[in-house]
Amino acid sequence: MKDTIKNKKIDKSLSDERLISPIENKTEESFDLSLRPKTLYEYIGQDKVKQNLEITIAAAKKRGEPIEHVLLYGAPGLGKTTLAHVIANESGANIRITSGPAIEKSGDLAAILTNLEAGDILFIDEIHRLNKTVEEILYPAMEDYALDIIMGKGPSARTLRLDLPKFTIIGATTMASLLSAPLRDRFGITHHLNFYETADIEKIIKRSAKILGIKLDDKAENEIAKRSRRTPRIANRLLKRVRDYCEVKGDGNITLENCLESFKMLEVDELGLDLIDRKILETIIVKFKGGPVGLNTLAASTGEEMDTIENVYEPYLMQLGFLDRSPRGRIVTALGYEHLGMKNLNSDKLL
Ligand code: ADE
Repeated sequence: MKDTIKNKKIDKSLSDERLISPIENKTEESFDLSLRPKTLYEYIGQDKVKQNLEITIAAAKKRGEPIEHVLLYGAPGLGKTTLAHVIANESGANIRITSGPAIEKSGDLAAILTNLEAGDILFIDEIHRLNKTVEEILYPAMEDYALDIIMGKGPSARTLRLDLPKFTIIGATTMASLLSAPLRDRFGITHHLNFYETADIEKIIKRSAKILGIKLDDKAENEIAKRSRRTPRIANRLLKRVRDYCEVKGDGNITLENCLESFKMLEVDELGLDLIDRKILETIIVKFKGGPVGLNTLAASTGEEMDTIENVYEPYLMQLGFLDRSPRGRIVTALGYEHLGMKNLNSDKLL
């Protein structure tokens, strides 16, 4: 595979050592790379998406054309980047990597596009963060494989059209709703990645442990899976942290017992909630009587960024049924109170 185009802007949270950090931790990149499946066959879970992609790739190969532009959306850590690499590998295409915030000016995108070769895949992570002028360059590029360059200003301005080779864009986003309609419409294929079944997370843990030469029993494997928020990236991170603990405190083998001790130290509970999840729920309960509370107020009260609360923490809390989003703000549900062992005074009032 060809060189990747590195992100110019480093996101603040890149240095984040949290287990539930929204994006890949660069110090773990080599670790993650070795664990990443390279083929659809190796890729565990997301069966419907895989079946569809298999057809798409085979059909494009048969016609001798690049695949249509693909939009992948879903929560952080579910394997959008991994899947883009798998698609490139399965199609025998080179992949170039960039991201919405890294492409600051239209010239940046023009430079990337004019360097593509026929059949290349351009992966744009966080595509919802592309700015408007850059996005407008992308429309003719995606639709007609053309780059429109405006020469001059005012009434004498002219548009020069440059032909581009036929290529494929794979866009990834955690928030498809933030994509403008014209951009969304230019993707011929859209796939939503769901949270994984626990059985699939167990398979991912088993596979990762084998690659890393870690010995773990079935009970430990299940315990790590249960606490992984149905997310492969978190499963692999937890496996690594538990391995560290077992290497220091034991003989390196992961058993249920030392696994549980390790989770106690990491303060990750039996559903995979960490300190921040609990802080979010407790803040709504204690400071805002269980809600509703607006996202910006919640962010200010917890000291977390709005974006992180909304895209990293809330989706899983909502999946568990611990948090609701209403037009007036966030509300902790009866299940949320129950999980924290806190009394729901509002429910008493209602009775
Ligand atoms: N590692 C991370 N995600 C994976 C997946 N979906 N299948 C196999 N290994 C993985």
